[in-house]
Amino acid sequence: MTIDIQPIDPVNRAFFAGVVSGLDLTQPLSPEQVAAVHAGMDEFGVLVFHDQKINDEQQLVFSRSLGPLEQATGDIAAPEERRVSMDLNDISNLDKNNRVLARDDRRRLFGLGNQLWHSDSSFKEIPAKYSLLSARHIPPTGGNTEFADMRAAYDTLDEATKREVHDLICLHSQIFSRGILGFTDFTDAEREKWAPVRQRLVRKHPATGRLSLYLASHAGGIEGWPVPEARAFLRDLTEHATQRQFVYAHVWQPHDLVMWDNRVTMHRARRYDYAEVRDMRRTTLTNEVSSLQQAP
Ligand code: OGA
Ligand code: MN
Repeated sequence: MTIDIQPIDPVNRAFFAGVVSGLDLTQPLSPEQVAAVHAGMDEFGVLVFHDQKINDEQQLVFSRSLGPLEQATGDIAAPEERRVSMDLNDISNLDKNNRVLARDDRRRLFGLGNQLWHSDSSFKEIPAKYSLLSARHIPPTGGNTEFADMRAAYDTLDEATKREVHDLICLHSQIFSRGILGFTDFTDAEREKWAPVRQRLVRKHPATGRLSLYLASHAGGIEGWPVPEARAFLRDLTEHATQRQFVYAHVWQPHDLVMWDNRVTMHRARRYDYAEVRDMRRTTLTNEVSSLQQAP
């Protein structure tokens, strides 16, 4: 099999979101295949792999072949409640016994934060590089995942705004993103663990040299700015960045794996019926350095 990567929508979005064929993720990748996947990520920011019937172990092997993983410390589930190891994020609505969480379950309400535009782990000092999400069970309708191209979002800013955002530092916390939804039910330990961290608003991709807007609903402030002014500006930038021409909406099929580069994209989950099962597993590569080290 030879690996092939094509734009998903060559007419409207030739440079964002690619579909990969000729790879079997149940098998270890060759160094050439690994290099091709990285090259595809550099070009497209989002890659879709269909029909990959992988288990957690195979997902881990594939993910580790691309780089070091981060741990799932952004979660609120207690260790004894977890369905998966700390190498995986449980992106499901299930409990340990594979029962659908109650509508008002704290873990479910916290997880609804994924429906806001974000970049994974921007609330950690060392944020995420790639995320790999594997669909094990999907609901009959709804539950798409949307991706926005933050390189295009940066490129289409007017020159005055580009100058204004160039060196701004944002403050990111899960307390901010959940606060938008009215979720304030944090323990003191969680508040301490998720104290705001600093990230650049404009970052440079180390391989391509392209600049992108590093936005997320976790961003609740800009260093040196009054909070309401910062939030109004961040909201405005997010509105610009998530216009439909910058967005790819992924409609899941069972056993799809979608991988995205958190340095150059935002994403969000769309609603689905809370009583239907949705079971996805996410592995996440660490960026290894802060965005502060990726200045333009
Ligand atoms: C994630 C995430 C979106 C979804 O896994 O990081 O935001 O559609 N998922 O589940
Ligand atoms: Mn996410």
